Amino acid sequence: MEITVEPVETIRGQIRVPGDKSISHRALLLSSLAEEPVEIEGLLKAADISSTQKCLQDLGTGFVEEKGRLKVSGQGLRGFKEPQVYLDAGNSGTTARLLAGLLAGQPFISTLTGDESLRRRPMKRVTEPLRQMGASISGREDSASLPLTIRGGSLVPISYSLPVASAQVKSALLIAALYCRGITSVIDPFNTRDHTERALRHLGADIKTAGRRIMVQGPARLAGGRFSVPGDISAAAFFIVAAALTPRGELYIENLGVNPTRSGLLDLLKQMGADLRLLNERERCGEPVADLLVKGGRNLRGIKCGGEIIPRLIDEIPALAVAALFAGGETTIRGASELRVKETDRIRALAVELRKMGARIKERPDGLVIEGGAKLNGARCHSHGDHRMAMALATAALFAESESIIEGAEAVKVSFPNFFNLLKKVAS
Ligand code: S3P
Repeated sequence: MEITVEPVETIRGQIRVPGDKSISHRALLLSSLAEEPVEIEGLLKAADISSTQKCLQDLGTGFVEEKGRLKVSGQGLRGFKEPQVYLDAGNSGTTARLLAGLLAGQPFISTLTGDESLRRRPMKRVTEPLRQMGASISGREDSASLPLTIRGGSLVPISYSLPVASAQVKSALLIAALYCRGITSVIDPFNTRDHTERALRHLGADIKTAGRRIMVQGPARLAGGRFSVPGDISAAAFFIVAAALTPRGELYIENLGVNPTRSGLLDLLKQMGADLRLLNERERCGEPVADLLVKGGRNLRGIKCGGEIIPRLIDEIPALAVAALFAGGETTIRGASELRVKETDRIRALAVELRKMGARIKERPDGLVIEGGAKLNGARCHSHGDHRMAMALATAALFAESESIIEGAEAVKVSFPNFFNLLKKVAS
């Protein structure tokens, strides 16, 4: 599908963005492990979340939607049944990796697969430690990629230091840890997003953190209750950047998740000179939430970023790259080689596609160097089948001199099906 994006003068309005994708996956998956029913409000309705829900259904979890809320009949840690079909994670890395943790605890065989993009993404990072815990896993190239066949069962606790910054791997191990007798420790040297830790605590699991070490005491018993999923800061990122870049821009985003392990973009944009204000800060079901007011019209400055902040904004780098195009001076992004193994190689895709609009942007093995202040021309660009690429290109196109065409725009269905309609609503 192609979408035409016209240049805009300003972005104004009051919006809500869809539910947080990371929290939605965890709410579904952990609710299905609970002993009692769980009610979820604000769940993201998008393809990646449908993938998680469908896989859990194939494992026997019941879901009922009622008045905009989803009721999950948790079946406890051991109530799952052997699936009769391949479990299909679609385009969703979070589904595949977190589910691998759950399947490692099951005393039956299941096969996990995904779409063409997901079958290319690295899985060794999760199969390796799950094998150490006792799961039997087979797949191509010594279980380096999907499809994977997993026979779980009696797992043993391990102490594991994450070799790559991956909240998905950390979460898979914390989920598998629920099945072990004893304490499993996961050391996260990168402070990756901590939604799993918060959600487990919320459901009453025995989970402790000491510095960078997270410890889960198993076997666990998760209670029922409710989850309230806040708006997704990764989805909001494109609107935040668009509003910050327009002269009379003013956007009020309600009910936004502002977990500090996710809010690196807000810190960086502020350092670049943007006017962002968090209002009504509160906590909902263990997650920090706020409203965000973005005022445009400030001149942004280029910035150097790398190191510890990267995991806090890894999914927002496409949006950050767009902001950098219009900032004064150069922006350097380093230490972000993980971007090469996302839904597409985002370092390459950003460089290739933004150059079509006339951007001066150089690829580095672990990041990008972006020269700000360019005048962009409208162009025909491609999403590379990646939702965040489609949204980043559309955001850049708002500030080009003429209209642009985004090919493969349907990719937004993965995390933000209503993206283009919402953009139309606030753009003028
Ligand atoms: C996610 C973690 C990040 C992120 C992805 C969602 C999660 O990936 O890029 O979009 O929900 O845990 P990694 O954990 O692989 O870094």
